[in-house]
Amino acid sequence: MTQNIHTPSPVFCALDTPDLARAESLAAQLVGHVGGLKIGMEFFYAHGSAGYQAIAAHQAPIFLDLKLHDIPNTVASAVRALAPLRPTLLNVHAGGGAAMMKAASDAAKEAGSAAPCMLAVTVLTSLSEADLHDMGVAGTPEEQVKRLAALAHANGMEGVVCSAHEIEILRAEMGPDFKLIVPGIRPAGSDTHDQKRVMTPPQALQAGADILVIGRAITGSDNPAQAAQDIAASLAKI
Ligand code: C5P
Repeated sequence: MTQNIHTPSPVFCALDTPDLARAESLAAQLVGHVGGLKIGMEFFYAHGSAGYQAIAAHQAPIFLDLKLHDIPNTVASAVRALAPLRPTLLNVHAGGGAAMMKAASDAAKEAGSAAPCMLAVTVLTSLSEADLHDMGVAGTPEEQVKRLAALAHANGMEGVVCSAHEIEILRAEMGPDFKLIVPGIRPAGSDTHDQKRVMTPPQALQAGADILVIGRAITGSDNPAQAAQDIAASLAKI
């Protein structure tokens, strides 16, 4: 039994900044308007556990997006080292293989009811079919995503991080309980930045996403709390 990821809002805001004061300010403004906050490598490598705790003190569920990838014993030890932070969601790379994911899942479960929901990253969306071929992976990125999602599921992962255009196929393949965490979300009419394939929050939720990871559409706004409220209002209509 891992932590309950059913937050009042499906939106997790990505705090993509190495600036502790800015991250804390965003956390203070956004708590109550989003379901949770995402902390990634950029912030965690700069500020470590103390920085994490400063954000977690705002009482929001945290997705700790560190994409762990190493031999099974090392990843399991990393999960054990991170467990006292009590992230709601934690992820590894599915490319680490079956034994690594199983070891990570087993290590997470040692935390009992405080165990994070363990997720896998399948294929980085920055990789094209040609990139996969260069790495010796035959077939399309979509085939590899499906293959790795099935491997993740079989080895204790409760869901995957996937792009918006993979939601429907993974929901169909993996069933209703497998968690789909989706970045690349943009409210209608907003800047797509460097994201190539975007969906609006209602589209992604309707397609079957469980959690929407939204960064700049909220953090880049003059009024982040209002931006988050507007997104929540668009979802309330579904
Ligand atoms: O600002 P934006 O909404 O594009 O932020 C999206 C967040 O999701 C960032 O933290 C980014 O690293 C992450 N992400 C992504 N695409 C992926 C995986 C993760 O944008 N395929």
